[in-house]
Amino acid sequence: MKLFVYCITAMIFSANPLYAEPTKTDSGKELYQSNCSSCHHPERYGVSGPPLIAETIGKRKDADLTETIKNGLPATNMPSFKASLKDDEIAAIVSYIKTPAVSPRWETKDILTTRAVSDTKGLSPRPKPDMTNFFMVVEGGKGDVHFMDGDTFTLLDKAHVGAIHGGPKFDNNLKNAYLGGRDGWVVKYDLTEWREVGRLRAGINTRNIAVSTDGKVLAVANTLPENIVLINTETLEPTRNISLEGKVGAIYTLKSKEVFVISFRDRPEVWFLEWNSLIISKFRVDQPFSDFFIEPGERFLIGTSREGKHLSILDLESRKITKSLEGEGMPHLASAAIYKDNGKMYAAFPHIEEPTLTVMELYKWSVIENVKLKGTGFFARTHDNINTIWVDTGSDTIQIVDKKTLKIVNEVVPSPGKKAMHIEFTKDGKYALVSIWENDGAVVIYDTATLKEVKRLPFMKPVGKYNATNKKY
Ligand code: HEC
Repeated sequence: MKLFVYCITAMIFSANPLYAEPTKTDSGKELYQSNCSSCHHPERYGVSGPPLIAETIGKRKDADLTETIKNGLPATNMPSFKASLKDDEIAAIVSYIKTPAVSPRWETKDILTTRAVSDTKGLSPRPKPDMTNFFMVVEGGKGDVHFMDGDTFTLLDKAHVGAIHGGPKFDNNLKNAYLGGRDGWVVKYDLTEWREVGRLRAGINTRNIAVSTDGKVLAVANTLPENIVLINTETLEPTRNISLEGKVGAIYTLKSKEVFVISFRDRPEVWFLEWNSLIISKFRVDQPFSDFFIEPGERFLIGTSREGKHLSILDLESRKITKSLEGEGMPHLASAAIYKDNGKMYAAFPHIEEPTLTVMELYKWSVIENVKLKGTGFFARTHDNINTIWVDTGSDTIQIVDKKTLKIVNEVVPSPGKKAMHIEFTKDGKYALVSIWENDGAVVIYDTATLKEVKRLPFMKPVGKYNATNKKY
């Protein structure tokens, strides 16, 4: 009863303009509109400048944002406001831009206004690398994706995307690459003509992208607005906008069933979206799958929620959760290393909060080992042709685990004191590519047999490397 009375009073107060005092955020909003909206969008969704909403910059320190606004960002179009805005005005703007976007809308007409089909000429002469051993390297610090010959480790070309954390996609015949950024931008790059074909902004804030097996449909999973946008890869026009009414976890392509799989962070459901018929099938699961992987047979989906208390195994044939496994320490499943040994299949995955690499036997769904690591890792990777699993440890060290004994047998330290993260192998497993995940970072290439460094390519925060063949799992 008490609570009820309180609510009513609160409503009266907020509805009555006499009681509404202008807040810091309100004045920030006005100042934003007159000083910032031309580049960052009236609704803060971003135009030539990036979005300024809680979803993208909410976790940044006030001091850091204040510094950016005061001094601008050198060598970019972000101006300095030192001369035109007072300290308390900048403080008001900072408080406003950290608020969430209000019922964000980004419709087909908005997407179409951003669509640009490029008439750039390709590289000449056109390189002809072995496309099956081809790499994309995502340079997070510059917002670029580099295209690299995997036999010689030479960089051939690059495309600029803007804020990007990973996940560029090849289509199945390795003819095109699709690069999806955090702010909804999607770029199509033609890998035979060696040129950007076009780009468009499919959302305001995006989780990841997926391409259909036939290469005709690109799916963009957005958190703002909460939807999936399907794009015709030929024309780069949006064909469908599917509302999710929930926060997407991730979208992946399930080749054998010709569907996109969609998971949610806030809802215990997994959706199948058929890219031809657009029919959606919904599976109920026992917890939201904010993170998951699909085993190579594509029958089981192994998922966990953000709390990561247990693993759930969803059988896509019976459409039921067949097993739930207790665990601890927040497994990172999307980056599991999946491999075969002695006729059995295994998945090895790190934990975001525990310095452990868990090795699970697939189909039996039993944990066979928890390998203690030097620190909490994020990515584990292996290759059929090598007998070790490489895992990062949130430190300068990559630890190397023997597949048979499940003991740590070696390590590499690409740069002492600098964070080493994310491993990818060449098609034949002869070389491992490790990122130094820093602004003055690099991709360091090791011979997997001798562990000798063979090459070092400087990059600004190279967040990921993607080999055309090894991306199959
Ligand atoms: C003339 C265009 C322009 C105006 C006006 C402008 N900005 Fe920017 N802003 C940019 C661009 C472009 C960037 C991205 C620079 C880069 O890193 O490439 C940026 C970046 C930023 C960033 C860093 C975002 C991040 O994710 O790191 C902040 C914060 C920011 N602007 C705030 C503001 C505020 C607040 C105002 C108004 C007081 C403003 N900007 C006005 C163009 C502009």
